[in-house]
Amino acid sequence: MNNRMLKAIGLCLAFMIHQFPLKAQTLVDSLLQVMTLEEKLGQLQQLDGGNSREELEDLIRNGQVGSILNEVNSETLWHYQQIARNESRLGIPLLIGRDVIHGYRTIFPIPLATSASWNLELVEEGSQVAAREASSAGVNWTFAPMIDVARDPRWGRIAESPGEDPYLTTEMGLAMVRGFQGDDMSQPGRIAACAKHFAAYGLAEGGRDYNTVSIGDRVLREVYLRPFHALADAGIGSFMTSFNELNDIPASGNTFLLRDQLKGDWQFPGMVVSDWESITEMIKHGYCQNPREAAFRAMTAGVDMEMTSTSYQDHLPELLAEGAVSMELVDDAVRRILEMKYKLGLFSADFSQPFSPDFLRSEELELARQAAVESFVLLKRDLAILPLTTQKTIAVIGPMADAPHEQLGTWVFDGKKTDSQTPLAALQTRLGESVKIHFAPGISVSRDKSHDGFATAIKAAKKSDVVLFFAGEESIISGEAHSRAHLDLPGAQPELLTALAETGKPIILVVLAGRPLIMTEYLPQVDACIYAWHPGTMAGPALVDVLLGQENPSGKLPVTFPRSEGQIPMYYAHKHTGRPASAESWVHIDSIPVEAWQTSLGNTSHYLDEGFTPLFPFGFGLSYTDFEYQNLQMSAKEITNQDTLWVSVDLKNVGPVAGKEVVQLYIQDEFGSVTRPVKELKAFQKVTLDASEEMKVTFPITVKDLSFFRSDMTFGAETGTFNLWIGGSSDSGLKGSFSLSMEGDI
Ligand code: NOJ
Repeated sequence: MNNRMLKAIGLCLAFMIHQFPLKAQTLVDSLLQVMTLEEKLGQLQQLDGGNSREELEDLIRNGQVGSILNEVNSETLWHYQQIARNESRLGIPLLIGRDVIHGYRTIFPIPLATSASWNLELVEEGSQVAAREASSAGVNWTFAPMIDVARDPRWGRIAESPGEDPYLTTEMGLAMVRGFQGDDMSQPGRIAACAKHFAAYGLAEGGRDYNTVSIGDRVLREVYLRPFHALADAGIGSFMTSFNELNDIPASGNTFLLRDQLKGDWQFPGMVVSDWESITEMIKHGYCQNPREAAFRAMTAGVDMEMTSTSYQDHLPELLAEGAVSMELVDDAVRRILEMKYKLGLFSADFSQPFSPDFLRSEELELARQAAVESFVLLKRDLAILPLTTQKTIAVIGPMADAPHEQLGTWVFDGKKTDSQTPLAALQTRLGESVKIHFAPGISVSRDKSHDGFATAIKAAKKSDVVLFFAGEESIISGEAHSRAHLDLPGAQPELLTALAETGKPIILVVLAGRPLIMTEYLPQVDACIYAWHPGTMAGPALVDVLLGQENPSGKLPVTFPRSEGQIPMYYAHKHTGRPASAESWVHIDSIPVEAWQTSLGNTSHYLDEGFTPLFPFGFGLSYTDFEYQNLQMSAKEITNQDTLWVSVDLKNVGPVAGKEVVQLYIQDEFGSVTRPVKELKAFQKVTLDASEEMKVTFPITVKDLSFFRSDMTFGAETGTFNLWIGGSSDSGLKGSFSLSMEGDI
C-alpha cells in the first residue's frame, strides 16, 4: 500500500471513529489493520512533557507518541490532544500521565498517613477529588496507587505506601482505584489508575532506594504480589514496573512477573508501562548489553509502553525484521494501550473546548481536612494537657509550625504552598485574642543545626502555659531516592526539644514526617505526642481541631515503630522462629557477666541491647477516650471449609467524649505444612461511639481468610487449629480459638 492510500484509509477511519461509536474490539482491530509500524511503535512511546513543544507537536502529528507525562499546562494539553485528534493520520488521542499521588492541587495527607486513617471511604473520596481536579486540567492517567508493601522506614518511599501489611495495603489500593476510576473511567472526573511498582520494590535491601530484592516465592506471593493481584482483578487500567531487580532479573525484563503472572495466570487485560527509563536501566543492572537487548527483553517480558527512553522506537524495527520479536507481541502491546484509551472515552471525547481547571473547591478542602484529622496517630497522651482547654498562653515552636511547603509531603508537583494552611496560621485564626501565642521557631528548617534561635524559643516557652513543638522532616527528606540511615529528628531539633523540656513546661510534640522516626528518646521528654505525618494543604485546621479537642484523634499505625534503627526490619506479622523471643528469655546486655562462658541456652531471637518488642506496634493509636473490649463470641468452635464463622465483641466507649475506634481482627494458623506468621490482619472496621455508648462489632471468617500458599504452592487452607484476636492494635485483644476441617473434595 502506498502512502497516499494509507493516508486515505486513515482519514476515513478517523472520520468514522469520530462519527460512530464503535465497540472497543472493532475499533482496535480496525486501527491495528491500518496502522503503520511507525504508528504502532508510536503508541508504545511515552515522552516527557519537558521536551521542546515543537518537537512534541511534530511527533504527535506523525503518530510517534502515545502518551505524554509531566505536562500539566491545560492549554498545552488541549493543544496536544487537538493535534493528535485532528492532525495525526489516525486521530488517536493521547494518554496524559501524571503522578497524582495524594491529591492534585488540593493536597491530601501522604498515602502512609491516609492508610493510618483506616477509613476506606475517606481514602476513596480523596482519590476521587484528586481525579476530578487532575482531569479538569487535562490529565487522564495517574501513576497511583503505589501499593508496595513497605516494612523499612529507612526507605524514603515508605511515605508513598500504605504501610507494612498486605491486607491493609490491598484495601487501601482498592479504595484508591475506586476513587480514581469509579465504575467507568470514561465518566467525567475519572482517570485511569496504575498499580505500581511491580514488584516487591518496597523490599529494597537495607532500605536503600532502587536496591536489590531477593525473596522466597511464598512471601513474594502472599505479601508483595497480593495487593497487585487484587487490583488486577478489580479492573485497574494499568501497571507500572519497578526499578529493582527481583530474584536476579530486573522487573522491567522479568518474564515471570509480567508475562507469566500478570498477563498469564492473572489474565490482566490492561496495559503495562515501564518506570522512568527502567528499560534501558537494565544495561546498568548488568542484565542487557545495550538498548537493543533491553528493548527485546522488556517487550518479550511484557512491558507495553516505554517511559521516556526510546529503545522500542529505536530497536523494535530491526528486532521485528530479524524475527526476534513477533508482530503479534507488538500488536498485543498496542491493543492494550488503545483499549485503555477507549475505556477512558478518549476516542469519543470532545476536545473542541479547552480544559477548564477547577481546583480547591471548599467541600474538597473540607474533605482534605477530615482526611488529615483521621490520619493523625496519638502516640502519647496526658489528658490534663491535651486537648488544650484552659491554657491562656501557648508557645508555638519548631520548624514545622509554619512551613507551608513542608507540610505537603513528597510527590507534590501541582499543589502549591500558597494554598497551605499552616498550624501557626490556623491557631492564630482560631484562637484570636482569647489566647496569647508566642511564636518562636527555634530553628528555621528541619535540618538546621544552628542553636542561634534557641534562646528566643526558650524565652517563649517560659512565658507560656504550654509548648506546642512542631517537629519533623521536610518533605524532601522522604520520597523517591531519599532513604535515611538515621531516623532521628534532623538538625538541632533533638537538642531544642531537650532545652524546652528543661524549662519544665508541659510539651505537646507534633511530628510532621514522611516515615516512622525513632521516637524512643523524645517521648519521655514530652507530655503528649501527635504523629501527624505530612498532612497536606489542610494540616493547620486539622491539627488545631485535634489540639483543641473539636476532633478526637483516631488514626492507628499502618507500620511498626521500632525502638532503634538496628531493629529494622520489624513488622508484626513475623514468623515464630524455633526460639521465639519472650520477656522471660530476654538477656539484657548489662546483665551478662564479664568473661561469661559462651552459652546460648535459654536465649531466644532478640537483641541483647534492644530486646524484641517495637516502640509501638502496628495498629496502635490512642484517643481522647478509651475503648473497652468485652465478651468475645464465636458462632462455633469447629468449622468446615463450607462454613462461615461469625466472631463478635462488645465494644464500649468508657471515656468522656465521642470517638472512633479501629477494631482489628487478627488470625494465627497454629501449625501448617509450611510455617505461618505469628498473626495476620484479616479484617477491620472503623466505628464511631458516643461517650458511654456500646456496640457489637461482628466479623465473618471463611476459608478464604485462612488460605495461604501451601507446601505444594497451591492456594488454600489446611485442617487444623487457629487462634484469633479482636482488639485495638496488633499486640492486644480478646483471644479465641477454633478448628477447621475439610469437607468435600480437598
Ligand atoms: C519514577 C517513579 O518511580 C514512579 O513512581 C513515577 O511514577 C515515575 N518516575 C514518573 O514520574
